[in-house]
Amino acid sequence: MSEIITIANQKGGVGKTTTAVNLAASLALENRKVLIIDADPQANATTSLGYSRNDYEYNIYHVMIGTKKLSEIILKTGVDNLYLAPSNIGLVGVEKEFYNSKAKQRELVLKEKLDEIKNDFDFVIIDSPPALGPMTINALSAANSVIIPIQCEFFALEGLAQLLNTIRLIRKTINPKLSIKGFLPTMYSKQNNLSKQVFADLSHHFRNKLFKDEGNSSFIVIPRNVKLAESPSFGKPVVLYDSKSSGSMAYQSLAKVILGR
Ligand SMILES: Nc1ncnc2c1ncn2[C@@H]1O[C@H](COP(=O)(O)OP(=O)(O)OP(=O)(O)O)[C@@H](O)[C@H]1O
Ligand SMILES: [Mg+2]
Repeated sequence: MSEIITIANQKGGVGKTTTAVNLAASLALENRKVLIIDADPQANATTSLGYSRNDYEYNIYHVMIGTKKLSEIILKTGVDNLYLAPSNIGLVGVEKEFYNSKAKQRELVLKEKLDEIKNDFDFVIIDSPPALGPMTINALSAANSVIIPIQCEFFALEGLAQLLNTIRLIRKTINPKLSIKGFLPTMYSKQNNLSKQVFADLSHHFRNKLFKDEGNSSFIVIPRNVKLAESPSFGKPVVLYDSKSSGSMAYQSLAKVILGR
């Protein structure tokens, strides 16, 4: 059965998509079969994996509204073992329809769709939009765990209480098994005192929820690395673009920690 991990933070631009794509690719490189679900209407994960809007007809929107099965929209990627359920700006429609509908259990639509393919993948990684709206709630309701990227910049922890409350509420009501897999400091700069401060704050509050690299007994932080920012424009995860870059190595270490090694 798949382990389902949602990457979430309602704050924009903190490294959710970068984490989803590169963690998924790194797990695939470790010979795990991985599906990345782009649950964001911005479709950045889809683009990062080299697809543009005219390359595919159906996307996660059609799955959410029930016109297609999840298995029918899945695309191959340039990485062996890595598959993509693409998104499209049309997914905004789902958010509207959800707000207007009075349907019960509308938080559980994605989970239901995932049940269908849960024996086909080792991991499902869900990239969520920068909001605590219906798609994020669906993504959290479907997941075993959540990874929360925290950008090592000013205001990093702002809004975190709201996210943690939402997770608590989902755990209490629809998904008791949802756990916080960890907080992932992103865009860390060694030279920057603010980065150090954010990391210190995080380890003060959530020390046991940082990812620990047992190999060298340090915590995993994703460095600010230009290769991570460039690789989406080539439609490739960083492991294919520059596997020895600091950003690539960090995501490969994260994958190893998640695999328990
Ligand atoms: N470690 C990093 N080093 C350098 N640039 C990065 C790093 N992580 C992310 N970026 C860049 O920062 C920007 C925001 O990252 P990303 O798209 O992953 O954030 P996001 O949380 O998914 O954003 P959104 O909330 O809009 O979905 C992108 O241009 C990305 O390439
Ligand atoms: Mg994103």
